Amino acid sequence: MARLTIIKQDNPLIRKHSKPVEDFSPRIHTILDDMHETLLHANGIGLAAIQVGILYRMAIVMTQEHGTLEIINPVIKTAKRQRTDAEGCLSCPGISGRVRRPHFITLEYQDRHGKKHTKDFHGIDAVCCCHEIDHMDGILFIDKIEK
Ligand code: CO
Repeated sequence: MARLTIIKQDNPLIRKHSKPVEDFSPRIHTILDDMHETLLHANGIGLAAIQVGILYRMAIVMTQEHGTLEIINPVIKTAKRQRTDAEGCLSCPGISGRVRRPHFITLEYQDRHGKKHTKDFHGIDAVCCCHEIDHMDGILFIDKIEK
């Protein structure tokens, strides 16, 4: 495994849209393994592939309810009960702010083998998933900070 460089908000790449993963190949597995190492070293709770310069719709989320998950091609099927809470981002060091997000989501996603899953996420787990999915569309939490 290798530790990857996390790109910051001033890198134009962070604003790109990521593309779906179609080929669940060993190359994808290697990227995910490297992302795990990168996330652990950075002391974060979530990391999207675009943050290491790879434009695929995949992320790692460290959840309270389901442990550490790889979410690939995620789609939010249900979102309920908005709440506002503090957030930060490994690509925006030194910045935090309050963002409005759903408190509950149902997420459809694939694992590294292409198998489909549907899971419910609550509280900070839901926030983390929504934050990482925003990255896949070039959106940063700083765009959404409540004034
Ligand atoms: Co982030």
